[in-house]
Amino acid sequence: MVSITIDGKPVQVEKGSTILAAAQQLDIKIPTLCYHPLLEPYAACRICNVEVTAGIESKLMTACNTQVQEGMEVQTASEAALTARRINLQLLMARAPAAEVVWQMAAEIGIEETPFIMEKPDQKCILCGLCVRACESIVGTAAIGFAHRGIDREVTTPYQIQSDVCITCGACAYFCPTGAITMEDIKGRTVIHQEMTLGPPKAIYIPFMQAVPNVPVINTEACIHFKTGNCGICQQVCEPDAIDYEQEDEYEEIEVGTIVLATGFQTFDPARVAQYGYGRLPNVITSLEFERLSNASGPTGGDIQLEDGTKPGRIGIIHCVGSRDKNTNAYCSKVCCMYSLKIAHLAMEKTGAEVYNFYIDMRTPGKGYEEFYDRLLEEGNHFIRGRVAEVTDWAMIPEEEGKLVIRAEDTLVGMVRRIPVDMVILAVGLEPVHDAEEVRRLFNISCGAEGWFLERHPKLAPVSTFTDGVFLAGVCQGPKDIPDSVAQSGAAAAEALALADRGYVELEPNTAFVLEDDCSGCKTCIALCPFSAISFDGDKEVAVMNEALCKGCGVCVAACPSGSIQQHLFTDEQIYAEIEGVLSYV
Ligand code: SF4
Ligand code: SF4
Ligand code: FES
Repeated sequence: MVSITIDGKPVQVEKGSTILAAAQQLDIKIPTLCYHPLLEPYAACRICNVEVTAGIESKLMTACNTQVQEGMEVQTASEAALTARRINLQLLMARAPAAEVVWQMAAEIGIEETPFIMEKPDQKCILCGLCVRACESIVGTAAIGFAHRGIDREVTTPYQIQSDVCITCGACAYFCPTGAITMEDIKGRTVIHQEMTLGPPKAIYIPFMQAVPNVPVINTEACIHFKTGNCGICQQVCEPDAIDYEQEDEYEEIEVGTIVLATGFQTFDPARVAQYGYGRLPNVITSLEFERLSNASGPTGGDIQLEDGTKPGRIGIIHCVGSRDKNTNAYCSKVCCMYSLKIAHLAMEKTGAEVYNFYIDMRTPGKGYEEFYDRLLEEGNHFIRGRVAEVTDWAMIPEEEGKLVIRAEDTLVGMVRRIPVDMVILAVGLEPVHDAEEVRRLFNISCGAEGWFLERHPKLAPVSTFTDGVFLAGVCQGPKDIPDSVAQSGAAAAEALALADRGYVELEPNTAFVLEDDCSGCKTCIALCPFSAISFDGDKEVAVMNEALCKGCGVCVAACPSGSIQQHLFTDEQIYAEIEGVLSYV
């Protein structure tokens, strides 16, 4: 151990520690700019200057990279140290006038201006080299470095062309203290909604706010360690030692008697309606992205901001995006009217903006819903009835300059209107999840034309499916709001428990059966049965019916070329007798 004093306070630190680390042990703050605990110190900014006395000699040293020596006396705020810090900050203010963090640091010690010439007013880079060190030592790619000398010195890629080795991990942007490097998404828009789809994928994240278990997962597609074998910082900093790169997904087989399918939905991708500008125009966002923006735990702490960080003065909400539209989904998504009203209320309350709702029909069935709509009308929300034709940034009059213009037909007054706004929120509809078809096949159930799972009977068996023991809950069966989903889930759980409690299933009375003597063994029926109830007996060379699986749909009966499959209650003799009976009255 080495004994030193800092600002008159004695401290013992491990040999090889820096003055900065020793000061941190005493809770003494030394300002830094080019230092980061995960990177080797580089001592480029010289903001961390301190006065060090060893024996009779005193000199200025940078705390971030100077190792302690026995008996050292350190002054972090001596006149010499503060003067050096002031001059270095003023030099950085001149070098990078647009680096706000430098001006903030200067203001903290009473400096408001610099005597040095500011050659490049927009410059943000202070040449601290954090980005270069991160790219080299953490990412292991060295895609960027320093080029040129003097005033022209800059961070760039070799030959200033797009680097082949850059893996767009964003580590440089993350470490840059001044915002000189930022990540933009593939559409070239500034990333402000990183937790949504607009930003680059994060390598490690908690899947969603209420995830169970609420722990981070690694996205191996985005993780530098899985891409290059380098980095590994999460493992280094994780105190409980919970990061294990060797772990792999495991599959477990669990035997159950009943299954409740609650696979949910996905939101409509509004990029499919190109005329609304999503992904092309700035400040066109989805309703779900607005939810994240307005959430206190969201990327802006609940502040509703435009991409440049300002507040919107006018907001347009377009209802029915991806719903009630023959070009996308013809059905009504049921929840969008009400959540759009909630968004309108929140947007107005939080920003004081004028809010315009563009709707086809206002559908508000539900307890207290119509009253909420009335309240919004009283609050002064604008409602324009008509489908929006397009969202454009093409201005026709001076008031539209720099705005998004919503062009829509107002069917109540019979005219086409152009409404300039700052932000457009697309109320996206609900769709079946992308792998609903796979799930459907797996559980041998049916889907409607739109892809929602089909219940056995809309009124008599609304949570059952055609496969015994498999029940439906929530939006996987069709669009519905949270109260309806909760009610349906309760019904599905009750059905599942009742079946488990009973311990047996009742068969359909109208199952099909095979007349073995007539069966030619053509196997036509086997492929057609949607419930996999028919197999083939290779010894007898005939089809075999499992009547416990058969649902009596009659597909095989109609398809059998030799008429060797019949159905209880619907045998040929019974059908013919019924026809004869009817015809006898003719
Ligand atoms: S994005 Fe990653 S690989 Fe590319 S320059 Fe920045 S740190 Fe290096
Ligand atoms: S871009 Fe940022 S991190 Fe890189 S040298 Fe400049 S200020 Fe430092
Ligand atoms: S933080 Fe020590 S020189 Fe920059």
